[in-house]
Amino acid sequence: MIPWTLLVCSVTMFHDAVSFVPFNKRSQQYTPDSLQYTPTQIDCIDMRSTPGDYYYESEEKYEVCGFYIIADPDSLVEIEITEINVNCDENNALALVDGWELQGEYFPSPFDHKRPLEERYQSFCGNSKPHKKYISSQNVALIQFLIPFPGQNFKVNVRFIPNPRPCNVVATMEFGILTLKNFGERTNCSISIIYPEKIYLVDVDVGVSSEQPSVKPTSGLSVQCSANGKSDYVELLYGDGLDTDIMGRKIAFCGLRARAAKRGIPMGCQHSVVRLVSSGSFYNSITFSFQAMTPDEIYTSTDIC
Ligand SMILES: *[C@@H]1O[C@H](CO)[C@@H](O)[C@H](O)[C@H]1NC(C)=O
Repeated sequence: MIPWTLLVCSVTMFHDAVSFVPFNKRSQQYTPDSLQYTPTQIDCIDMRSTPGDYYYESEEKYEVCGFYIIADPDSLVEIEITEINVNCDENNALALVDGWELQGEYFPSPFDHKRPLEERYQSFCGNSKPHKKYISSQNVALIQFLIPFPGQNFKVNVRFIPNPRPCNVVATMEFGILTLKNFGERTNCSISIIYPEKIYLVDVDVGVSSEQPSVKPTSGLSVQCSANGKSDYVELLYGDGLDTDIMGRKIAFCGLRARAAKRGIPMGCQHSVVRLVSSGSFYNSITFSFQAMTPDEIYTSTDIC
């Protein structure tokens, strides 16, 4: 059981680490074999946003631990288990998870992931290192483990590899500007921000542009997106859990708008999400900027989390 505050706290902590990212990336260009890395020891609950070698040694606690890994939005997480010493019995566990899990909820939601939930878990035990490297489907991955016995441990090498078509993304920042696209595919994609946020629409083109040049579409956003057989829309979701499928919906819209909004849409819970639903008939794109809500704004927010 990991409280949100702990995660959010870790996220805030890793902001300090963000400035070190370019350095780490550069150092990745050297062949790892030629350099002697000292692996970073991780805690039972940990979160990291930099590639490198990480190591966990049993703290003799009987509790499920989680190592939350987050890369830049346009990267995937590659994990190689380089050392493993975890007994194969029901009291021990080490699993790589495709996405994040928190209190039984997942990001990306099982509804929006191409792989079924069972396939998103890969368990490992014993003491021979697996041959295959593991690659996540989005910029977040989780290593879940229960290693209560002294002397048991594991070591992983974490790399970030470019993802030219990011779909589901956890944002690494409390403020910024991001674009979500479907590349003409039938897919549902979400950007997750683990803060109460104000969302400002910058550019919206959803349920409008297809490949064939058609009549010039009329500009404007609409909340009636299922009308006229259209099924593409953007929704803004808020809540305190990870699963976008059970979050509250602030607003849903489709249409065309190239003018940046002056007023932000407030989302007063711990988790704010922009989700793009695409039928595959359109080339959808939404660009938005986001900014943390002030404590006063959160206090006066009427969103029920
Ligand atoms: C996308 O989401 C919509 C509504 O939530 C759903 O009806 C549709 O089947 C989903 N599409 C895919 C490809 O999962």
